[in-house]
Amino acid sequence: DWTMAEFRKTKIAEIREQVGSGKVICGLSGGVDSAVAAVLIHEAIGDQLTCVFVDHGLMRMGEADQVVSLFRGHYNIPLIHKDVSALFLGGLAGVTDPEAKRKFIGKTFIDVFEAEAKQIGGAEFLAQGTLYPDVIESVSFTGGPSVTIKSHHNVGGLPERMNMKLVEPLRELFKDEVRELGRELGLPDVFVGRHPFPGPGLAIRIPGEVTRERCDVLRKADAIYLEEIRNAGLYDAIWQAFAVLLPVKTVGVMGDGRTYDNVCALRAVTSTDGMTADIYPFDAAFLSRVATRIINEVKGINRVVYDYTSKPPGTIEWE
Ligand code: XMP
Repeated sequence: DWTMAEFRKTKIAEIREQVGSGKVICGLSGGVDSAVAAVLIHEAIGDQLTCVFVDHGLMRMGEADQVVSLFRGHYNIPLIHKDVSALFLGGLAGVTDPEAKRKFIGKTFIDVFEAEAKQIGGAEFLAQGTLYPDVIESVSFTGGPSVTIKSHHNVGGLPERMNMKLVEPLRELFKDEVRELGRELGLPDVFVGRHPFPGPGLAIRIPGEVTRERCDVLRKADAIYLEEIRNAGLYDAIWQAFAVLLPVKTVGVMGDGRTYDNVCALRAVTSTDGMTADIYPFDAAFLSRVATRIINEVKGINRVVYDYTSKPPGTIEWE
């Protein structure tokens, strides 16, 4: 008879046992997994934990602020918020290849995190919000048995390089269980229920070159889309929904003027673990409403399309 309350107690005891009086650092990604891991570990060992939030500037609208206020305000957990968006966007200038983007972001993330960890000093343990599907998939992220489809930015490399021991209290859990544990730990529902967000962030939702301007355009369109999804009461029925900004310009007409702007694609899928996915069948009125709002409210977009590709053969993210 297994409950989350028992899991919480057991894990807290295990973390105390493993860590003793040692120091732990935890990288927050802005997502649910690392946040739940951090809150659980903090409950176990208090201020022996320091969280580092490497803010690459590729988050969704308002997301970075939410993480910071949740940790500092709500939980009073020590948090270093490192705004390194200039470093990331600078390095992404001129980069258009999806794997090159992923590799640059992964490497830079690790460099920044490592430098922060050194600054804190003396941490022997590294905490990660690794889930069970990550454990299975880390060999070949979303690929078949031997092909790597996409290099994954969160797992691998870091602990060996930093010569640290891992604390991974969520290793046996699936996403829905992590959410349940998050609620058990008192994390707000809106936070716990958030759709998954990839480590490389908006960079892999902007095919072609990533610039600050493009990120800003995408963030606005994405926020409108998600707001409409929440208003329609559909958010929890969807595994992931997001906008993609295409590096394609098309001609349009607005008022009595010609427009020549970018295309925005909308993606929404249902899934249980991200390994396979089906498209979410919105009704036409909903999609029209979102398209109209985005085109009217977001400067730089004059056409909206809906992605009808399931996984496989598509992947969930576009890159
Ligand atoms: P794909 O695009 O491969 O994505 O179908 C499957 C799930 O994984 C997420 N994803 C990532 N998550 N680091 C992450 O933490 C990554 O590098 C990464 N790439 C994709 C994606 O959002 C989806 O939920």
